[in-house]
Amino acid sequence: MYQKKELSYSLDALEPWISKPTLYYQNKFYREAIRKLNQLLQVDRPLEQIVQNIDSYPIKIRGELLFYSGRILNHELYFDSMSPNKKNRPVGMLAKAIQKQYGSYSQFLEEFKKVAHTLVGSGYTFVTVDNNHHLNIVNMPNEETPYLYGFVPIMAFDLWEHSYFLTYQDRINEYIDAFFEVIDYEKINQRYEKIIL
Ligand SMILES: [Fe+2]
Repeated sequence: MYQKKELSYSLDALEPWISKPTLYYQNKFYREAIRKLNQLLQVDRPLEQIVQNIDSYPIKIRGELLFYSGRILNHELYFDSMSPNKKNRPVGMLAKAIQKQYGSYSQFLEEFKKVAHTLVGSGYTFVTVDNNHHLNIVNMPNEETPYLYGFVPIMAFDLWEHSYFLTYQDRINEYIDAFFEVIDYEKINQRYEKIIL
């Protein structure tokens, strides 16, 4: 049975950037995905492994299995990419990688925004790490996860309408800026260093 992970901050901790009602619904969708996944399957391995070995599951359940596993993984990573701790400047090896690959933090941000704006429909923009320890900024539709393609995501940015509509309606630029106010680079860097060191 897959167990819910508790948020490390309260639902109103990211106000005014990410509102309490928005996080309430995010958390509700996350919990519902866990309920559905547990109905579908006796979960006995990490969800990343389910996604990476999707071919070993009956064809009839693969679509739902990918969707709910992805929805859980993506929301956990999204929640864990933010905090009220004001750690919104890159640190550690991640800061060095950003500098090396993008030239500066502001150029990285510019690239992130550019990619996020090219997402069509619902989905996410991720920062992923590949086998060469390279950072990539990639969009994935719906609840697809980079694990499906051999990448490890270290940061997730939810771009489903439910993630911004209550506060920002169609002003996606404002939502992106808000996310980068509450982003927690310490946690993202910990994931990066765990992969590369
Ligand atoms: Fe979401």
